[in-house]
Amino acid sequence: MKIRKLQYGEIPPYELLLLADPSRALVEAYIAEGECYVAEENRESIGVFVVVALSKNTIEIKNIAVREDRQGQGLGKKLLHQAIEVAKSNGYAHIEIGTGNSSIGQLALYQKCGFRISSVIKDFFVEHYDEIIMENGIQCRDMIRLRLQI
Ligand code: ACO
Repeated sequence: MKIRKLQYGEIPPYELLLLADPSRALVEAYIAEGECYVAEENRESIGVFVVVALSKNTIEIKNIAVREDRQGQGLGKKLLHQAIEVAKSNGYAHIEIGTGNSSIGQLALYQKCGFRISSVIKDFFVEHYDEIIMENGIQCRDMIRLRLQI
């Protein structure tokens, strides 16, 4: 498995990106602004993450996803560590990530990697997505923001 930065003109792995974010419009908007990294095996994309600078000191992981048949095998953690490395090597002081209040596994993963909850954006998913999102029997309404000092 190799993680590499997607080059200009290459098509991002939308089927993976849409696992993390059901809004194609939002995905396209932040891909245009940031950098997309893909994990590949036998020339197939099995994981992805997208980072976008928020300021001179802070970068955000806007999207992180692992192909469904490869989830739960440690790849998400590897991608997260790689995103932290990208932030570190580019001189950022903080890295942030946002997820839904209903994303229990994601909240566990990010905290296991050292991220701490920094704020909550109430009703973010109600206001920005057309459809009701349900996960783990919980409606996804609020965005939980997490932050790691590098
Ligand atoms: N309670 C406690 N720990 C949990 C739970 C839980 N309910 N669920 C998961 N975990 C832990 C696992 O135990 C593991 O930690 P460990 O290594 O200490 O045991 C860790 O979280 C999961 O690690 P990985 O196997 O590396 O994760 P995976 O390869 O499945 O990738 C990911 C995680 C990216 C979230 C993947 O499941 C995925 O693609 N999901 C769909 C898309 C998605 O939701 N993306 C994130 C949206 S938010 C955003 O993109 C900014």
